[in-house]
Amino acid sequence: MWPYPKVVAHRGAGIFAPENTLVAMQYGYEHGFRAVEFDVMLSKDRVPVLMHDPDFGRTIAGVGTVSSTFARTLIEMDAGSWFDARYANVRVPLYEDIFKYCREKGIWMNVEIKPAPGYEVETGEVVAELTQTWLQQFDSTAQAPLFSSFSESALMAAKRQAPDIPRGLLLDEFSPNWRVQIEKTGAIALHTNQQHLTANWAKQIKDRGFGLFCYTVNEVERAHEISSWGVDGFCTDRLDLFDASFD
Ligand code: G3P
Ligand code: MG
Repeated sequence: MWPYPKVVAHRGAGIFAPENTLVAMQYGYEHGFRAVEFDVMLSKDRVPVLMHDPDFGRTIAGVGTVSSTFARTLIEMDAGSWFDARYANVRVPLYEDIFKYCREKGIWMNVEIKPAPGYEVETGEVVAELTQTWLQQFDSTAQAPLFSSFSESALMAAKRQAPDIPRGLLLDEFSPNWRVQIEKTGAIALHTNQQHLTANWAKQIKDRGFGLFCYTVNEVERAHEISSWGVDGFCTDRLDLFDASFD
């Protein structure tokens, strides 16, 4: 069963705003999106921030790593210029601030737990513990978030910390071991790369009662094809091609 929205904005607003930032969430919201996926990583002082890459250099300038930088420094860093000079004042956001924004606006969150290498358990624990606390503080019209991660250790840590927050296991491609992996993490859904999904694998997943979510679907034709295989939801960079009414 998949009780969540079908179309989800990837990293906030896909290709339309700097990824994993507040302006991306605002862009998605203003364009009708009420479901978002973003990546969460820990700073040196174990504060979750929105970030995809463990190293600086792509979305924030310079040399360094997220896991060796304090949150107070990270939130001063320019997370927008790489995308366009007009976003030079956009900063790395705290997960807490994005969480509050999404709860206020009724935006459903797929929180991808994205640990820097070596911080898998810690990241799963911290993100789950804080999410559970904040869910009690910030009521919303949106459903509770869904965690996902490529890291089984992070998902198992999240399960220990907040067993009632559902989880999705991210696998880039077919793994013959997928049932063992999904059961180990107690995930309700499998999240996979649409490029590697086959009708046969989709059927196996659906026949066993799991949710099936794909990343990153940027073509309408492909979205229809995988939907016909039973895919429940997908994230997209192309907020211009899809909307919540897509079926
Ligand atoms: O969660 C789906 C997708 O975001 C996984 O890949 O690299 O975009 O985080 P990535
Ligand atoms: Mg992601």
